[in-house]
Order: sequence, then structure tokens, then C-alpha cells
Amino acid sequence: MALPKLLTIPLLRTTTTLPPRLSLKTAKCLSRPEKLALYSMASKTTVSDTIREDHRAIESAYTEVVYSSDQEHQTRYGNQFTWELARHSIAEELIIYPAFEKYLGSEGKEMAEKDRGQHHRLKEHLKRFQNMRSSDPDYIPQIQALYADLQQHIKEEEHDDLPALEKALVRDTENKGVSETLAKTFERTKMFVPSRSHPSAGEKPAFESVMGLLSAPVDKLADMLRKFPK
Ligand SMILES: [Fe+2]
Repeated sequence: MALPKLLTIPLLRTTTTLPPRLSLKTAKCLSRPEKLALYSMASKTTVSDTIREDHRAIESAYTEVVYSSDQEHQTRYGNQFTWELARHSIAEELIIYPAFEKYLGSEGKEMAEKDRGQHHRLKEHLKRFQNMRSSDPDYIPQIQALYADLQQHIKEEEHDDLPALEKALVRDTENKGVSETLAKTFERTKMFVPSRSHPSAGEKPAFESVMGLLSAPVDKLADMLRKFPK
């Protein structure tokens, strides 16, 4: 079974910062303990950097789909796009939007509600897209329609929401290190959430935790059955 791309890439792929004068090429020559130490150091990234990196991975999968005329390539990257976007969205709902509410007060509550609404629309789009074959004449128009909404959502998160969160976190010394902790928790959470879109599970954490998360093993099993039929 082909693993989603993120699982096959090197340990250092998810980091955004390496120590000065240390290239990825050099890092590959390090021993495992050295790599782990380096990873620990380099992974002290902010939650904004982590979310931005995820956004770039989603955009990259989208580009592979729409700029290819090879249906097999489109299928492979269409699945990658679904896998990235579904996990990213639910992890944001579980970790990031509650952080908006906690650290930004009423402004954060409004922000989280707006983002949950946008996510619901994106998940409806994604649910239609994930069930399509790349041979379907609507395959590309469907991902393009989804992407038009997604671009606006990403723009608002990166330009308004996340800077407001970071600003609130640095303002209070009690919150020192919270951004980095949120980044790590976000990455860990992505490992356990569903890899397909389930809009009916809702966007509120309490409901996600019961209905949405129950879908995670089902998604994985369905993927395996599709790839290894008996
Ligand atoms: Fe989002």
C-alpha cells in the first residue's frame, strides 16, 4: 500500500528552522541521537509556522492535481490533497480554534466561529471531491471550486487570525512557550484524526472528539480494503 507522502519523507521534513550553517544534506549524515537532538531543537517552531507549512503542503498537492493531464498522477495527488486537508482541518478545530477562544476572548470566539463555518463549507466540497474518480469531467472543476474557498480561508488565517494569536501569546509572559506547545500538540493530533472528510461530525471539539474521531480507524480500514481487496 502506498503511504501518504508525509509518512515517507525524512525526519526533518516537518521542521522549518535548522541551526545556522547546518544544511539538510549535512543533517542526513548525523547519527540517530544527533538527529533526535537536532529535531528537538529545530521543532521549537511557533504554531503559526506549523500551520503555514501545512497550508503549503496542501497547496502543493493541489498544484500537482490541476497541472497534470495524467489521471493516475491526479488520483495519487488528489488522495494526498484529501489526506492533508482532512487531517489539517480537524486538528485545527481541536487545537487551534479552542486556543483562539482561550487566549483572545470574545474576538477569539468570533474568529473561531467564522473559521468553523468556513471549514464546514470546505468539508462539504472535500466530501464531494474525495468520492470522485479522476476520470470524472467534474474532478478538476470540483477541486478548483474547493480551492477558491480554501485560498480565502488560508489568507484570513495567515494574515489575521494566527498573527492575533501570536501577539496575544507574547503579550503575557505567563504564556511563554505556549505557541511552541500548540505547534507540537497540533502535529501529534494530526496522527489520530480522520483522513477523509466527514462534515456531519461537525466542527465543535466535543462533537469532533466523539463522532469525528470514531471515523479515523474506519477511514484507515477503508483505505486498506480499497488497496488490498480479497
Ligand atoms: Fe483552517
